[in-house]
Amino acid sequence: MRIVVVGGGGTIGRRLVPALRSNGHDVVVAGRTSGDVHVDLTSHATIEAMYREVGAVDGVVSIAAHGALDEFKTLTSDALHENMQAKFFGQVDLVLTGQHHCADGASFTLTSGIFADQAWPHVTGGGVISGALHSFVLSAAIELPRGMRINVVSPTMIGDSVATFDEHFPGMRPVPMNELVDHYLRCVEGDDTGDIIRAYG
Ligand SMILES: NC(=O)c1ccc[n+]([C@@H]2O[C@H](COP(=O)([O-])OP(=O)(O)OC[C@H]3O[C@@H](n4cnc5c(N)ncnc54)[C@H](OP(=O)(O)O)[C@@H]3O)[C@@H](O)[C@H]2O)c1
Repeated sequence: MRIVVVGGGGTIGRRLVPALRSNGHDVVVAGRTSGDVHVDLTSHATIEAMYREVGAVDGVVSIAAHGALDEFKTLTSDALHENMQAKFFGQVDLVLTGQHHCADGASFTLTSGIFADQAWPHVTGGGVISGALHSFVLSAAIELPRGMRINVVSPTMIGDSVATFDEHFPGMRPVPMNELVDHYLRCVEGDDTGDIIRAYG
């Protein structure tokens, strides 16, 4: 299958892209400055341009753009809205726009995160983004045209990011990278749709 992986040059992507290639897929990596094709999830025009460039792909995987940490006592609705631009609205736009460009039966695999289900300090934005993505996937799964599928992987802190995030989330048990990669592979290669895959280690 021909698969575009948005954020494929990042921490998860560095594990997932070789796994997809070793399973025989033709992978196009996309990012703002990294990858084979350039796209910024905050820009609808670049999403349209990416789909025109890559053609009718069989799968879209999104592993790009984090929710920013925040301080609840100083959080504003404007800041929350800004925080949602790439990871929530950008991934939503990948699907809303992609439904008109992708091949029949194509899959969309989005990425959310554990804060949809667990409250931790300083992640109000991250929680709202991920919870909203879960709701979006449920609706999209029953309305996508031409046999298209959609699922979302919701990771806890990942094994390869412990050094980066451990100080913010002490005691959070990471999900092993091979387990996480298997979840994405199943979304791309399987038949399921509407799944929220809680990769919580
Ligand atoms: N790492 C974790 O522990 C963890 C845990 C739970 C959930 N997640 C989620 O998993 C996803 C991937 O995480 P990661 O750690 O692999 O991220 P990462 O290492 O920061 O890599 C992000 C990738 O996305 C691209 N990107 C960033 N912003 C973008 C934008 N606006 N438009 C298009 N591409 C963009 C980056 O390339 P360019 O700079 O070239 O654009 C990069 O290739 C994120 O949604 C993250 O929140 C991660």
